[in-house]
Amino acid sequence: MSQLVLCRRRILGQRFPTDDFTNVTPAIISKTPLQLHITPSHPLSTLRELIESAYKDFTHVSTSSPLVSPYKNFDELSFPLDHPGRATTDSYYVNRDMMLRTHTSAHEVEMFRKGETRWLLTADVYRRDEIDASHYPIFHQVEGARIFDTNASGMTEVLEDNERLSSLLASANIIIEDIPHISDTNPVQHNHDPVFSELVAKNLKLSLNNLLLKVFGAAAGITKQNPLRVRWIEAYFPFTSPSFEVEVFFQGKWLEILGSGVVRQATLDTAGVENKIGWAFGLGLERIAMVLFSIPDIRLFWSTDSRFLSQFQQGKINVFQPYSKYPSSYRDVSFWIPQDSKMHENDFCDVVRDTAGDLAEDVKRIDHFCHPKTRRTSLCYRINYRSMDRSLSNAEINHVQDQVLSRLKDKFGVEIR
Ligand code: DAH
Repeated sequence: MSQLVLCRRRILGQRFPTDDFTNVTPAIISKTPLQLHITPSHPLSTLRELIESAYKDFTHVSTSSPLVSPYKNFDELSFPLDHPGRATTDSYYVNRDMMLRTHTSAHEVEMFRKGETRWLLTADVYRRDEIDASHYPIFHQVEGARIFDTNASGMTEVLEDNERLSSLLASANIIIEDIPHISDTNPVQHNHDPVFSELVAKNLKLSLNNLLLKVFGAAAGITKQNPLRVRWIEAYFPFTSPSFEVEVFFQGKWLEILGSGVVRQATLDTAGVENKIGWAFGLGLERIAMVLFSIPDIRLFWSTDSRFLSQFQQGKINVFQPYSKYPSSYRDVSFWIPQDSKMHENDFCDVVRDTAGDLAEDVKRIDHFCHPKTRRTSLCYRINYRSMDRSLSNAEINHVQDQVLSRLKDKFGVEIR
């Protein structure tokens, strides 16, 4: 009892009791107030504004607190109870009743309930993940949505908007690989008029094709000879049907840009807007900003070094000039895990993040071995250390590595080999 009262986490000025779900670490909590997406001149802020400029007549919101209930993050959006995203290995929980949002879709019901019919919402989102140059446990998303009345005037509104958006695209330097708006494997919802749903899916695609043209056209030297290539892919999300993902061909690679679809009626019903039909999308900012600004490592977004920050101005997309690539140095750690251990790879990564912070550039499992006689499991990880801002001494790396080892022993009872 007394232990329960003593164990609390303080996040954004609020105190929360901990329980068996608690896995949010001090390293993560310390980043929750930073709000990079509204920090003037930050590349993420410039990209947010560029996206907002493509939706001038939408309401624009930037939320602050990432704290939401699991109900809001999952249940309101029809996530099944056994969805892997709910697991403590995948998401950060303050306790059983409070978590850090894993996506901006968590605010859909709230926005629709307020009566918003066309809106963009930008926020920081949190997922437990591996450690490398393109993964960070915090990133930023823009959620966008538009809903129409399910009557004749609503349908006229979609038809007219589709005409307007189609004519914008007709003269643009873009090649779109499309798929059917609705199919057997990507079906219309049973309570939707298929004609209306199809028009809404078309509106979604036209709207996003125009957005991508604006975002990538700005930086990519898009011409008649070198048009923007966009491809639509069938997808599945618990809260949309039909559902789509979009990829853009940029600098020789297909980049995953966003998820989207026709909003599940249950979501709109929960929000109290039963007589509407519409679309939503969720787009990650970091991946796009990394290619637009040539930012080679996702940790740089969190840098407070003026050699990073001073290179950017609000509203301007320019190529980042790396000030230096400081040397990296790796350390391996091999250990036996206790027989009944539930230690997950993400648990290992959170110990590293919490100890080394952004000095950990990359973590890879390089060996996994089960002793044939004792049946004990041994793991070996290679942690690559590199600072974005300075050279690290061997002594400093050894010290961090020693702390990683001792935390692994304390938290998971591993036996270092
Ligand atoms: N929330 C999804 C994710 O983070 C992306 C997404 C998919 C957002 C479909 C949407 C949507 O609004 O309709 O992966």
